[in-house]
Amino acid sequence: MSSSQSGVAILGAGLFAKEDLRISQSHRDTAHIPALALLSASAPPLKAVYSRSAKSAQDFANFSVGALSLVSAPSVYYDSPNNEKSDTDLDALLARMDITALVIALPIVTQPDIVLRALAAGKHVLSEKPVAPTVAEGLVLIRTYNEVYKPKGLVWRIAENFEAEPGFRKAAEKIREGAIGKVIFFRSVVYNWIDESSKWYKTPWRTVPDYQGGFLLDGGVHTTAALRVLLPGPLMHLTGFASLNKSYLAPHDTIHALIRSSGDFHGTLEITFASPTRERPVADGFVITGTKGWLSINQAASTVDGKETQVFRVKIHSVGPKQKGLDDATQEEPTEVFEEPIKGVEVELAAFFEAIERKEGILEIGEPLEALRDVAVIEAALTSQGKLVDLIELVPTSL
Ligand SMILES: *[C@@H]1O[C@H](CO)[C@@H](O)[C@H](O)[C@H]1NC(C)=O
Repeated sequence: MSSSQSGVAILGAGLFAKEDLRISQSHRDTAHIPALALLSASAPPLKAVYSRSAKSAQDFANFSVGALSLVSAPSVYYDSPNNEKSDTDLDALLARMDITALVIALPIVTQPDIVLRALAAGKHVLSEKPVAPTVAEGLVLIRTYNEVYKPKGLVWRIAENFEAEPGFRKAAEKIREGAIGKVIFFRSVVYNWIDESSKWYKTPWRTVPDYQGGFLLDGGVHTTAALRVLLPGPLMHLTGFASLNKSYLAPHDTIHALIRSSGDFHGTLEITFASPTRERPVADGFVITGTKGWLSINQAASTVDGKETQVFRVKIHSVGPKQKGLDDATQEEPTEVFEEPIKGVEVELAAFFEAIERKEGILEIGEPLEALRDVAVIEAALTSQGKLVDLIELVPTSL
């Protein structure tokens, strides 16, 4: 990595940027710095970090030097204390010609404006999910990108690690190949226990929930992104109920929704952050059922190359070929199990850098309009109150 090579900056020095995400024992992803470390030479050098506070930016920069074995520390940019019109504010970072790509992991409500500032400064952008706090804001953002910045060749992708997860992508391929026949229904279940002392709860922008759904939006889009990857058609209609039981998780902590695709299949989405216990009553995950079998996918701990690793475990149980001499009740039902280590953040970063280099045949993920469909499902579930919501009316097939 030479220092003249065009580099990347990370905006947002929060937990997700540097740590393994562990909302609870079974929700874990790799974060940006560990993922950059795994990509090593195939990623551009980290040249700058920005955070609202000087201290967190500096801590983050120090952390990244060790984690990425950097020869020189990334430059530090921040807003406070008192940093108006200085050479270390965000505008100064955006003015640097040697930084061509930004990874943005800022609070949900501040992110859309900063994405626009970054694009206006001519940067390629990978911004953390959700694409926007509401469908309406997302549509404005995407239209602006499509009309003004996309024609200039700027890449903007949404970092949605579940969409990138090899476990989900391989499961989806099995479904497309007909491993369970034609999909007829599905279920998706997420139980979270969040106490007030949780470090995820304590991040300032989560304790002051100024966006719809709170954790349900922030975490729920992972679940809807996984459904988007797994299911063979778009989700079209939704009805549901939302509620709050742990007041510190306001505005909502639980949703239950029924969702239908284009008439072919339907299913359920249940997400709660208000589980009273740490122990889950049922395993989190997905079951997709088809005419010839079912596929389940759950997160689990496994041993890969002698090391305990978090994986997605996929199980396919199907109706086998008819065996002569056996009646239906004794026919064999073959089971296939495979596991894929969790590496969505690494995959999404690699795909972003390859998109910037205009490589051929790269993984097409992180499309902003597709990511907005994930927001639409959560928004619909939060607002439906039992009424039927047309998801395609919320986010059209194309803009
Ligand atoms: C949670 O549910 C219980 C039982 O219905 C109720 O007493 C309590 O007020 C609820 N909490 C909130 C914040 O609504």
